[in-house]
Amino acid sequence: MTHEIAVIPGDGIGQEVTPAAVEVLEALEPDFAFVEAEAGDAVKDETGEALPQETYDLAASADATLFGAAGDTAADVILPLREAVDSFVNVRPAKAYPGIDAVRPETDLIFLRENTEGVYAGHEDRLTQDVSTLTRVVTESASERLAEFACDYVAGDDHDGFSIVHKANVMRETDGLFRDTVKGVADENGVETDQVLMDAFATRVCLDPEQFDVVVCPNLAGDVLSDLAAGLVGGLGLLPSANIGPDRALFEPVHGTAPDIAGEGVANPAATIISAAMLLEYLGYDDESDRVHTAVEATLEDGPRTPDLGGDASTVDVTAAIIDRL
Ligand code: NAI
Ligand code: MG
Repeated sequence: MTHEIAVIPGDGIGQEVTPAAVEVLEALEPDFAFVEAEAGDAVKDETGEALPQETYDLAASADATLFGAAGDTAADVILPLREAVDSFVNVRPAKAYPGIDAVRPETDLIFLRENTEGVYAGHEDRLTQDVSTLTRVVTESASERLAEFACDYVAGDDHDGFSIVHKANVMRETDGLFRDTVKGVADENGVETDQVLMDAFATRVCLDPEQFDVVVCPNLAGDVLSDLAAGLVGGLGLLPSANIGPDRALFEPVHGTAPDIAGEGVANPAATIISAAMLLEYLGYDDESDRVHTAVEATLEDGPRTPDLGGDASTVDVTAAIIDRL
C-alpha cells in the first residue's frame, strides 16, 4: 500500500535538513508518495498566513508528515499541525551517541509527553493589572490514551515498564488524576511502573540517568524535562520527535530554524533523519528504520561531521555518508 507522506520543510535550516531526510527515505525505496507543502515565516510574508489551509488539510489526511522547523511563526504552525494529526502523545527519545561530547554519555531515555492539555490548554487570563491566572486542564480520557500508548510502547519495544513523573503532592486534583489514571491503566495491562515527583526527577536524572528508561509525564513537565535530557546528551541538534495520533503522525526534529547558520549548508541533518527513521517504524518499515538508525550512529561516531559536532562537513556530505552506510 502506498503511504502518502506530507513534507513541510518550513523556514531556515528546515529547508536544508528536510530534503536531506527525504533523500535518505528515497534511498530505501519504501512505497511512499511525497507531497510537499509550505508553512512558516516565508509563506506568511507572501500570503499573510503561516499555515495555509491546504497544508493543514494535507497533514490531516496524509499517513505521516515530516516537518522541518518554522521561525517566528513556530507556534502558529506546529500547534495546529499537531492538532491536524490529533496527536495525543509526543515521543521524545534523548539518547547520547558514541563519539559525541555528552554531559552524561550513558543517557538513553524515552519521554512520552501528554500533548494536548495541562497548562498548554490555552486557558490564561489577565484579570486585573495585578493579577493573571492560568487554568490547568487534566482529563481522565487524555491520561488514559497516553497510558494505553505507553503500555503498548513498553511491550512492543521490550522495556521493563515506565516511570510516571508528576507533582501530585501539590497539584492534587490535576496531577492526582493523571497519576491515578496512568497507574490504573498500567496495572490493568500488567505493566510495572514507578512514580517520581518531577522536581526530584530533575535532580536524579542529572546525577544518574541510567536509573530511568521510559518516562510518562504531563505536557509541561515533558517539555521541560526532555529539554533537560537534551542537555545531558549534547544539545538539541541531535534530538528527533514524533507526534502520534490515532490514525496519523507528525515527525520533526526538536530544534528550530537555526537562523545563525541557515543558508550556509552546514546544518546537522541527524535529528531530522532520525525523525524520518521514527516515521519508517511508525509505518511498519522496521528493518529500514533500524538501518537508518545504524547508519546515523556510525556516521556520528566516525564522521563526517557538521561544525556543530566539531567537524567541517556540509549537510550534503553528511547525508551522502549516511546513505552510503545504509
Ligand atoms: P534553534 O534550535 O533554531 O537553534 C539553537 C542553536 O542550536 C543555534 O545556535 C543553532 O545554530 C543550533 N542548531 C539547532 N539545530 C541545529 C542543527 N540541525 N545543526 C546545527 N546546529 C543547530 O533554536 P532558537 O535559536 O531558539 O530558535 C530559532 C528559531 O526557531 C526561532 O524563530 C524559533 O521560534 C524557531 N523554533 C522553531 C521550532 C519548531 O519549528 N518546532 C522549535 C524551536 C525553535
Ligand atoms: Mg520545548
